[in-house]
Amino acid sequence: MENKIKGNKEKKEIVWNDQWLLNIPEIDVQHKKLFGIFNELYALAKNPTNDYKLDMSRIVKKLTDYTVYHFGSEEQLMQQYGYPELASHKIEHKSFVKEVFTQIKRLSNDNPSDSFKLYAFLMDWLINHIGKSDALWAKYLLK
Ligand SMILES: [Fe+2]
Repeated sequence: MENKIKGNKEKKEIVWNDQWLLNIPEIDVQHKKLFGIFNELYALAKNPTNDYKLDMSRIVKKLTDYTVYHFGSEEQLMQQYGYPELASHKIEHKSFVKEVFTQIKRLSNDNPSDSFKLYAFLMDWLINHIGKSDALWAKYLLK
């Protein structure tokens, strides 16, 4: 899958595209929701509110909670179907969560440009992950 996000200085918003569907409805809905939360972060960075810091921390909390919930759903499905690469997939999820928390710690100031960097990282990772690793287990489940 082509990836135009890396090194993108313009920090464009990325909207969901059905090319990222796995054809596993439960997970596709969750991926779309994750995109939506990432885009809430983008929208706030683009149009900062008076309560920017508080609003951003609310979005970040929602984002991390939902990411953890979503990974749990995927891992449960993979386990249920005996996916042989579950362990390495779990490691990918874990290291992403770790990196997100590291970046969030650096986000403690009021600077929206930091949030754009976080946004680019989140989208870059998610799109790559869906296109490569998630596509593999989806294929396994659907065969
Ligand atoms: Fe995944």
